[in-house]
Amino acid sequence: MKSSVRIVEVGPRDGLQNEKTTVATADKIALIDRLSATGLRSIEATSFVSPKWVPQLADAAEVYAGIRKAPGVRYPVLVPNEQGYERARAVGVEEIAVFTAASEAFNRRNINAGIDESLQRFAPVLERARADGVAVRGYVSTVLGCPYQGDVPVADVVRVARALHAMGCYEVSLGDTIGVGTPGKARAMLRAVAQEVPMAALAVHFHDTYGQALANILACLEEGVAVVDASVSGAGGCPYAQGASGNVATEDVVYMLRGLGVETGIDLDALAETGRWLAARLGRETGSKAGKALAAA
Ligand code: HMG
Ligand code: MG
Repeated sequence: MKSSVRIVEVGPRDGLQNEKTTVATADKIALIDRLSATGLRSIEATSFVSPKWVPQLADAAEVYAGIRKAPGVRYPVLVPNEQGYERARAVGVEEIAVFTAASEAFNRRNINAGIDESLQRFAPVLERARADGVAVRGYVSTVLGCPYQGDVPVADVVRVARALHAMGCYEVSLGDTIGVGTPGKARAMLRAVAQEVPMAALAVHFHDTYGQALANILACLEEGVAVVDASVSGAGGCPYAQGASGNVATEDVVYMLRGLGVETGIDLDALAETGRWLAARLGRETGSKAGKALAAA
């Protein structure tokens, strides 16, 4: 296991993209500013997708322009196409994430394109990003199962991850979009991808629908992964994956890593406080068990 892990906080994007409650732009900005003060080094701020598809993040430009960019913190945003890239660059975005899936059926519903078509769509985005000095992360969704297709062959995950890396994504995040994976499968999938893409360029992104996310993360840490995506207070899900619940709660991951002696640089109390603050804004209890326990302690 690596002695330090970088957490990519995805709550402001993956969390808020699926909320029924409309979160005020000012609250989104306040959330990111609070997260910036916890020691996190990567905070996915928002998403420059079509507002017709994800109305919750229609205020992406205002949010990005409104946040205080803390030194040493990166604020990637989701970009599905050149139009999104232009909107993002217009407000000074310096890191983007493109996203596709290992399942054809999911990709059609999520971004209205097949896998190869989506990769072709990203090519000019990556070219422009390279010319502009913009860093690009890549996501592969449905790496452990698809809501439409069911099982997803590991070979398909490997192929898409390899393609994103070869196109210039500095990091490829492997997403269990609907949280169906279990540790043995997660480990085998990561091992297979790491044969083709260096482990140092891989991240894991587990939704916690079946309560398996922490176990899956531990299995992948044992394989040597050093980047973990998580969402403060466990907020979120994918609007195009029915029934998918939020990501693993960042607080729970940080608590586990601290117990394992793995460095994250994150102030757990400040993070848990932010998780409870967000939950209050959303009118519910925090989805983080560690966040709840720390409040009661
Ligand atoms: P489309 O309908 O095929 O696109 O959608 P289009 O090019 O035909 O455009 C349709 C309309 O959208 C046009 O407007 C465009 O201008 C507009 P109209 O002429 O009708 O007025 N449009 C845009 N507007 C603003 N920004 C843009 C943009 N692009 C087009 N960037 C498209 C294709 C990809 C745009 C659409 O399917 C889309 O936005 N999908 C996003 C879905 C999404 O955000 N899903 C959640 C994120 S992925 C996820 O959560 C998984 C992840 O967490 C990992 C995991 O858990 O596995 C990352
Ligand atoms: Mg996700």
